[in-house]
Amino acid sequence: MIEQCRTIEFPQKGDERGHLVIVEGNQDIPFDIKRAFYIYGSDKDVIRGRHANYRSEFVLINVAGTSKVRVDDGERQKVFHLDRPHIGIYLPRLIWKDMYDFSRDSVLLCFSNEHYDPGEYIRDYDTYLEVMREIKEEL
Ligand code: TYD
Repeated sequence: MIEQCRTIEFPQKGDERGHLVIVEGNQDIPFDIKRAFYIYGSDKDVIRGRHANYRSEFVLINVAGTSKVRVDDGERQKVFHLDRPHIGIYLPRLIWKDMYDFSRDSVLLCFSNEHYDPGEYIRDYDTYLEVMREIKEEL
């Protein structure tokens, strides 16, 4: 599972006028984009996320500033450093994620394949571990 979390480098078309980074659904990222949101103004000691999703996949990009994302599949953990506007991470469904260590100027842009539905969020870590155990038993 966790090996499916990966960094993606986006095409850049900058020139003497400045930078331009392209993110096209189903081309630069592996899904059609249904939702975009962005997070900024989080203090350095704040931990956001703390959830997993039954259906939503995500691509996260620090278009300004820096942050870290800890991903967890119930067995293994990995930390990604988001610190370049043209590099993001792809997270499949059913990954527990914490976003933290936000720089003051951090703007974390998130794309998803799904519209917002609070019912598909798992916000309790013990419940998440139980869900993952059940899935593994079924395999
Ligand atoms: P939350 O999921 O806690 O944010 P994060 O994962 O960044 O820590 O969402 C914060 C609030 O915003 C919560 O009331 C739900 C709402 N929200 C939406 O209405 N639509 C969305 O797409 C998202 C991500 C959040």
